[in-house]
Amino acid sequence: MALLDIERLTVRYGAIQAVQDAGLSVAQGEIVTLLGANGAGKSSLLNACMGLVPLAGGEVHFDGHLISAERTEAIVRRGMTLTPEGRRVFPSLTVQENLEIGAAASRDLRQKSKMQREEMYALFPRLKERFQQLAGTLSGGEQQMLAIARSLMSEPRLLLLDEPSLGLAPNIVDQIFDIIASLRRRGVTILLVEQNAELALDVADRGYVLASGRVVLSGKPAELRSAGLERVYLGAA
Ligand SMILES: Nc1ncnc2c1ncn2[C@@H]1O[C@H](COP(=O)(O)OP(=O)(O)OP(=O)(O)O)[C@@H](O)[C@H]1O
Ligand SMILES: [Mg+2]
Repeated sequence: MALLDIERLTVRYGAIQAVQDAGLSVAQGEIVTLLGANGAGKSSLLNACMGLVPLAGGEVHFDGHLISAERTEAIVRRGMTLTPEGRRVFPSLTVQENLEIGAAASRDLRQKSKMQREEMYALFPRLKERFQQLAGTLSGGEQQMLAIARSLMSEPRLLLLDEPSLGLAPNIVDQIFDIIASLRRRGVTILLVEQNAELALDVADRGYVLASGRVVLSGKPAELRSAGLERVYLGAA
């Protein structure tokens, strides 16, 4: 069984059908990308996996367990975590304090927290240089690195990344994608939501395209490219 297995997932906000009967799976060790135009339902799907928005239908299995009815904290403890769209670091806390909050979700936290923090500083040297700086004063790219590092503090097996490149300069985007590739080498499985389809398909093993809440296309990067992603996007708009 896949590490993450989503079946017939449906999310509604009142009359708005954000996700409809969506199916998706992520195997251990994969990078899977979820693509789609603005409003396609990508964030809703990730948030539903984390128990942050209720499911109107369908099931989410993680590591063989049905987690659709579980609370977010329990899901994080099982080893799945989300770096949300828009980063959402705590602006008035320091870099270090933001990381400590991420560790609060991990199992045996006190002993491990410091070690984990040092590991994050090794992975993100810029954060180490700025460990006492208030997160709100970091650049957009640095805040994104902090948001990812904070998610990694709970030692996830599966990381859900929601639009990590949003609003960042091209060279910073390249750095973020280098980090994504290095995370996979470290054994972290990743479900990556991106607007930048080209970059995402460069790093992914497989991808899905969501349009108006439905999965309209899935396959390997080459298959998605040859199916004409732009056409799918325009068709969805
Ligand atoms: N809290 C909410 N209340 C009502 N409608 C919502 C809410 N969140 C999202 N929606 C609607 O659900 C649909 C899917 O939104 P969602 O944010 O999941 O899309 P997305 O693919 O992540 O878009 P983007 O690329 O802009 O981040 C949209 O029509 C959106 O307006
Ligand atoms: Mg979104």
